[in-house]
Amino acid sequence: MAKYNLKINGKVRPVEVDPATPMLWVLRDHLDLVGTKYGCGMAQCGACTVHLNGNAVRSCQLPVSAAAGQEITTIEGLSATGDHPVQKAWLEHDVAQCGYCQAGQIMSAVSLLKSNPNPSDEDIQAFMSGNICRCGTYTRVRAAIKAAAQ
Ligand code: FES
Repeated sequence: MAKYNLKINGKVRPVEVDPATPMLWVLRDHLDLVGTKYGCGMAQCGACTVHLNGNAVRSCQLPVSAAAGQEITTIEGLSATGDHPVQKAWLEHDVAQCGYCQAGQIMSAVSLLKSNPNPSDEDIQAFMSGNICRCGTYTRVRAAIKAAAQ
């Protein structure tokens, strides 16, 4: 076990966990930040996407020891009232179906728009290809990202 003062969503959150514990489980089981979802546990689906220093990462493959001292943002920290431009575009385009993958989709979309404020369809396809949606909401995801980019 080791003690960490993690920087999550602008706050310092102390935890005591095994250094190899994936951030996904620290967030969900120790800090009650359950917006970040478990899908595959193997960096294949994107459901667990959070930001590490503003960049999208798979929290299921990020040991807590590697996240210590860095800025972590989860879907809960994206905006105080759920009105981040990407979240608003998601609602306007009714993107979610079952909703399970959507936090990860939104966190990836925000990261995409930060690095590429006006992405083409191909850019979106390439960047978002690691976020799997079993409901097949890809067309609406693309439309929402385009809307948020304007
Ligand atoms: Fe992390 Fe699937 S749960 S990528």
